[in-house]
Amino acid sequence: MDVNRCALDVLQLNIPLVESIRETIRAQGPQSFAWFMQQALYHPEHGYYSSGRCAIGRKGDYFTNVSVGPLFGQLLAAQFCEIWDRLGSLNNFVIVEQGAHDGQFALDVLEFAQKRLPEFFGALHYRILEPFPILKEQQRRRLEAFGDKVQWPDSPEPFTGIHFSNELLDAMPVRLINHGTEKLVGLDNEKFVFVERQVDQTIFNQPALDCIDEISANLQLGYVMTVDYGSLDDCEKSVRVRAQHQNLDSPFQSIGEADITMSVDWRSIIERAQANGLHVAGFTDQHHFLTGIISQFGRGGSGQSSLPISRKASRELQTLLHPEMLGRAFQVLALAKNIGPETNPLVGFRFATDSRSSLRLKDPLQ
Ligand SMILES: C[S@@+](CC[C@H](N)C(=O)[O-])C[C@H]1O[C@@H](n2cnc3c(N)ncnc32)[C@H](O)[C@@H]1O
Repeated sequence: MDVNRCALDVLQLNIPLVESIRETIRAQGPQSFAWFMQQALYHPEHGYYSSGRCAIGRKGDYFTNVSVGPLFGQLLAAQFCEIWDRLGSLNNFVIVEQGAHDGQFALDVLEFAQKRLPEFFGALHYRILEPFPILKEQQRRRLEAFGDKVQWPDSPEPFTGIHFSNELLDAMPVRLINHGTEKLVGLDNEKFVFVERQVDQTIFNQPALDCIDEISANLQLGYVMTVDYGSLDDCEKSVRVRAQHQNLDSPFQSIGEADITMSVDWRSIIERAQANGLHVAGFTDQHHFLTGIISQFGRGGSGQSSLPISRKASRELQTLLHPEMLGRAFQVLALAKNIGPETNPLVGFRFATDSRSSLRLKDPLQ
């Protein structure tokens, strides 16, 4: 093994987790960063998410679209309703959400649909795929008023409708592989260090690809819609570590007390989905996506679905749309299964530059 050590400081707070990671490395040698990330975020007892410790929003560690306020969920509900309509206003239309955290997005969608889109609400079934009991409990409490409308299946089930996620893929464990070199997590006495080795492997985001396989296998007819920060280019990738609205210098600081993400490699996600028989129905930045929805359903839009634009909602809108805030940082990908190539794009993609040709990706349906 070609060992190139770069020592980094450990600012340990979560002693049991840090000790358990050290123990494995002492016993088995350096481990992949994906394994380390799995422990830091999802260790059954002490992980940042699985312990329920993660807090999102002003008083937490970072903002997401969902934590900005209910407008994001309301706008997405309008997009979901358009999809339901296009698919023939089916009676048993399912939204599957993965990475639902405390259930806030589901609440925003369901409350809005109940008030403004009653027919859609009547046909809707909401399923949450949640592996962590503590988060499932938070979601159940938050969504209690909706009774059987919301379900938590023990494992993914076949469905017709939409699979939705916001910042799910960026939270999936990744290996740090770059041009044939992988950074592993090792120990220098008590200190965590990166240790390099040569590898032939190029796939670094296997859990995200597995997730696409699983969704594709269960989606019978409909769309996968995923919102995240990422890139289509093969640029050098680095992890982002956040706690209390600060970017930390190293993933070895505040282990189990900080969020760790990596920007999504959209190209590999799309290629994997295509290999599973899905096609790209749209890809654009959040600014253009939400602008498309607002232009149809927002102020001046038609019918009962018009969105409420209060002063608070205007502030939320600015945060979601502004290119210097979340508008350009996030992208939206829609993948379709068993739906012919759209003659009219979904409303969210009406202002997107022609995503299929700009992606230059092979689309089996074209
Ligand atoms: C960055 S948070 C986003 C939370 C929420 N969607 C939002 O936008 O505020 C990522 C979430 O994905 C969840 N997650 C990670 N892997 C998951 C998986 N395989 N299945 C379901 N949820 C998962 C984490 O537990 C966490 O709640």
